[in-house]
Amino acid sequence: MVGVKIIGTGSSLPKNVLTNFDLEKMVETSNDWIIQRTGISERRIAQDETNLSLSLDASLCAIEDAKIDKSQIGLIVFASITQDYITPASASLIQKELGIKKACAFDIAAGCSGFVYALAVAKSLMESQNHEYALVVGCDVLSKITNWQDRSTCILFGDGAGAVVLKRDEEEGILASNLTSYPDETNSLYCESFKINNPFSQNDEIPGKLVMDGRQVFRFATSALVYEVTKVLQKANLDIEKIKYIVPHQANKRIIDYAAEKLNVSEEKFIVNVNSYGNTSAASVPICLDEINKKGLLSEGDYIVLVAFGAGLTSGALLLKW
Ligand code: ACO
Repeated sequence: MVGVKIIGTGSSLPKNVLTNFDLEKMVETSNDWIIQRTGISERRIAQDETNLSLSLDASLCAIEDAKIDKSQIGLIVFASITQDYITPASASLIQKELGIKKACAFDIAAGCSGFVYALAVAKSLMESQNHEYALVVGCDVLSKITNWQDRSTCILFGDGAGAVVLKRDEEEGILASNLTSYPDETNSLYCESFKINNPFSQNDEIPGKLVMDGRQVFRFATSALVYEVTKVLQKANLDIEKIKYIVPHQANKRIIDYAAEKLNVSEEKFIVNVNSYGNTSAASVPICLDEINKKGLLSEGDYIVLVAFGAGLTSGALLLKW
């Protein structure tokens, strides 16, 4: 087996819809402002769902699409920054719920770039450890760490999960990847965890909420998107004309429009659903991929670029051959 292919996709979203008009009643904002500045009309916010329940739903959906038995999965890589438990890893909890007795399972944290990182890592591990099937999941419930009084961030985020099943194959389905981290920019997007609170150092502060310098991240995102797409195509020596779809992280419609212009490709090549779900962090890329797959928009041999950026700051891209 020389390559790794995606053979199934799945996604799951909370039932509860939060519209811009709902947000108008919560913070000083307007539907017009949010649409003009972000392209978002509504998002899904978890009520009864958890990070694990959404992840499991998306995983089962991807496994069904792949038409395999879940016991065949030997590797689970999970990307998130909002897991239900600090330990064990959510990948282990998913494994338990799926009833898989033995597998390699662990989590990855790379903010909104998490799923792209997880897919690249899963491919390498499948090749080096000889796993025939793998499950890669991206899920975030950012509503848990959103500051609902901060109008500059609470209007952006939504909750959701997406998953893919990978298979070792005679043909290569992941042609190239590029992953980058920029440590100078750690302060522009962060959320503090528990402070030390033990018999030697008392601290009653509650864990933090997400803090973002929107303008800084916007500047980064526009250049990172263009950089990652260009880089991954260079690595595979493929012209952008050959790409059928670019599936970008869904943070802001304006970021995607900017990238389309800079890359000199038509906006139709970019898959956009930020209007309906907002920024679902590590879930946004696999949710989009599942949407286009289930709509029947993908044919064998199509070239697709997955590209994301997020906390770290991080960015990354993958070139797929469907
Ligand atoms: N409603 C009304 N007014 C608002 C709102 C709001 N919800 N939010 C901010 N404003 C105001 C500001 O206070 C400011 O007012 P001022 O001019 O009087 O000071 C004005 O609108 C403009 O604010 P900016 O921050 O300059 O607005 P901008 O056009 O940059 O849009 C936004 C803000 C949407 C956050 C944008 O910067 C953005 O999308 N940034 C990127 C975010 C991103 O991509 N994150 C991805 C990573 S997320 C992750 O990894 C979890």
